[in-house]
Amino acid sequence: MKVFAINGSPRGKNSTTYRLLRPFVTGMRAAGAEVESVNLVDYRINYCTGCYVCWTTTPGLCHFNDDMEKLINLLVTSDMVVYGTPVHTYNMSALLKTFIDRTFPIHAPKLKKNDNNPDVTSLQHRHSKPNKLFLIANCGFPEYVHFEPVSFYFRHLAKMLEMKFVGEILRPMGDVFKRPSTQTVLRPYYDLMQICGDELIRFGKLSKATEQRLKTDWVLTSDNSYIETVNLHYEHLQDKTKKLKEKKHANTRIKAETS
Ligand SMILES: Cc1cc2nc3c(=O)[nH]c(=O)nc-3n(C[C@H](O)[C@H](O)[C@H](O)COP(=O)(O)O)c2cc1C
Repeated sequence: MKVFAINGSPRGKNSTTYRLLRPFVTGMRAAGAEVESVNLVDYRINYCTGCYVCWTTTPGLCHFNDDMEKLINLLVTSDMVVYGTPVHTYNMSALLKTFIDRTFPIHAPKLKKNDNNPDVTSLQHRHSKPNKLFLIANCGFPEYVHFEPVSFYFRHLAKMLEMKFVGEILRPMGDVFKRPSTQTVLRPYYDLMQICGDELIRFGKLSKATEQRLKTDWVLTSDNSYIETVNLHYEHLQDKTKKLKEKKHANTRIKAETS
C-alpha cells in the first residue's frame, strides 16, 4: 500500500496538522505502508489560472514550471491519499485548495457517467490515481459543526473522482497543540493517532472503538475551559507585544534625547 500524506497547513512543521499527521504516518508505516509525506508550504505551487492549456495545447501538462509536476507524480502513483488541513474561514486552507485545483492535468477533457454513481457526470482520468481518501482536519473552535463544509467537500471529491472515502479524524480545539507546555499531556492523544494510522492500513478503516476514543480521550474536560485558556493565551500575547512596543518606543526616545 502506497500512501501520499499531505499537510495543507501554511504553518508547515509548526502546525497542529503536522503534529497530528506525524504519529498517524508512523502508525501507517509500522503497519507496512510505504508513505510519502509532504508539507505543501515547502513547495512552489502557483494557483491555477484557468487557462486550460493542460487540456488543450499540452495535454496533461501545466504551463507553470513549479513543483506541482513532482507532487502530481507522488499523487498518481499512490493507492491512498491522506489530506491534512486546518479549518480556515469554515473551509480547508487556501494552500490545500490551490494544490487540489492544480491537479487538473490528471483529468482528460472528456465527460462520462461516474463509475460508482451513474446519477452524476464525471471527468475521464488521464492517469492512474489513488483509490482511497482519508481526511485529517483540525479547527480552533471547540465544536464539531465547524468541520461540516470540509467533511462534505472531501466526501464529494472522493465521489467525483471515483475514490472510496475511508474515514476522517476531526479535531476541534486544535490550538491546544500549539503550546510547548501541553505536549506532555497530549502524549496519549499522539499515541492514539498512531493507532489510527495502524488501523487504517491493517483494516482499511478506523475501528468504532478508536473513533469513539478520538472524541472521549481528550485532554480538556469542557468547552468552557478551552475558551478560557485560549482567551487568556491571546490576552497574554497581546500584553507581551504591547510591553515590547512600549519598551522599544522608550529606548528610541532616550536615544533621541541623548544624541
Ligand atoms: C485565516 C484563518 C482562518 C481560520 N478560520 C477558522 C474557522 O473558520 N473555524 C475555526 O474553528 N478555526 C479557524 N481558524 C483557527 C485554526 O483552524 C486553528 O488555529 C488550527 O489549529 C490551525 O491549524 P494548523 O496549526 O494546522 O494550521 C482559522 C485560522 C486562520 C489563520
